[in-house]
Amino acid sequence: MNDVFSALKIGSVSLKNRLVVSPMCMYSAQNGYANNWHLVHLGSRAVGGAALVMAEATAVSADGRITPHDLGLYEDGHVDFLKIITEFIKQQGAVAGIQLAHAGRKASHNRPWEGNHFLQPEEGGWQTVAPSALPYKQNEPAPAALTPNEIDALIQQFKLAAQRALEAGFEVIEIHAAHGYLINQFLCSSSNLRTDQYGGSFENRIRLLQEIVVAVRQVWLPPKPLFVRISVTEWIENGWSLNDSIALVNELKNIGVDLIDCSSGGNSPHQKIPVAPLYQLEFASEIRRRCGILTGAVGLITTPEQAAEIIAEGSADLVFMGREFLRNPYFPLHAAHELSAGVSWPVQYERAQKK
Ligand code: FNR
Repeated sequence: MNDVFSALKIGSVSLKNRLVVSPMCMYSAQNGYANNWHLVHLGSRAVGGAALVMAEATAVSADGRITPHDLGLYEDGHVDFLKIITEFIKQQGAVAGIQLAHAGRKASHNRPWEGNHFLQPEEGGWQTVAPSALPYKQNEPAPAALTPNEIDALIQQFKLAAQRALEAGFEVIEIHAAHGYLINQFLCSSSNLRTDQYGGSFENRIRLLQEIVVAVRQVWLPPKPLFVRISVTEWIENGWSLNDSIALVNELKNIGVDLIDCSSGGNSPHQKIPVAPLYQLEFASEIRRRCGILTGAVGLITTPEQAAEIIAEGSADLVFMGREFLRNPYFPLHAAHELSAGVSWPVQYERAQKK
């Protein structure tokens, strides 16, 4: 039986336990540049005992940012401060990961705490792009459909960002293909009406993601761990489904993807999500069982007992947690105490260790 505090080796990386800080946008960068906020935010969770700290959705191009304050890896200059962050994370015995993303038609918005509205160019926004000229919300301007040349350039942007992630010292890359962002928009027929080789059939709709994986793998060489986050279901009738995800993952497995981070939703404003504790867990367990690939579970996992059970039952290989890690950066240290697991505390904090 596996234990949530047991180590897991994935390619070149050894994780000290199964607890992962889920990628979470901080909307606190300037022109894509990380700063002290990111150092303290990510650093605290490494101090708190997470095995893998995944930095937020990081844009591969300026127009791929959800807001003007997203983190970016689209300039060489972005690397330097990220290097400070990855060094700190490693000093805590944790692994630094980064999620590479392009927001597509969901780009050019202001921040959640500013209202989450579409930003017009005169407000600092920009023309968004997507597989097809369909806005996510009806009252928003239509994105421009990407041309084949622009798709080639986009694939190169993912590759270049992966190269910069390597230079910045990250040890895991996760490609963001979930939550209705650009890659997810290509996967789903509700957002992809193209008639070229990137639209129409299932094989065509998954092509962009496959080409991005192949391009990233040219610079992010095996055995470096490569994860992909997908929305396993679109939560709409006749939309992208678990069966589509299984067929997709079987293809991704063959081109060097190591782990599928199993989330859901975000591509359709008509989605109906039955939100409840562990509501996405079955996706991680089904994909793990049917595709024979490592999976991460995510979504309303909040207690040490839930995390322990997920790993003990073999439902997933990693437990990604978002909001609980915002409430409690030291979740793994508390969980270890509660589950009577022996973990090493940061030496600076040893006197606070409950016996
Ligand atoms: C998120 N989430 C998210 N997901 C992702 O793939 N990339 C991202 O950058 C973000 N950004 C983000 C910011 C904030 C503030 C929150 C709360 C969430 C989703 C997150 O990773 C996770 O999948 C969900 O929050 C569900 O897990 P929890 O929070 O129930 O553990």
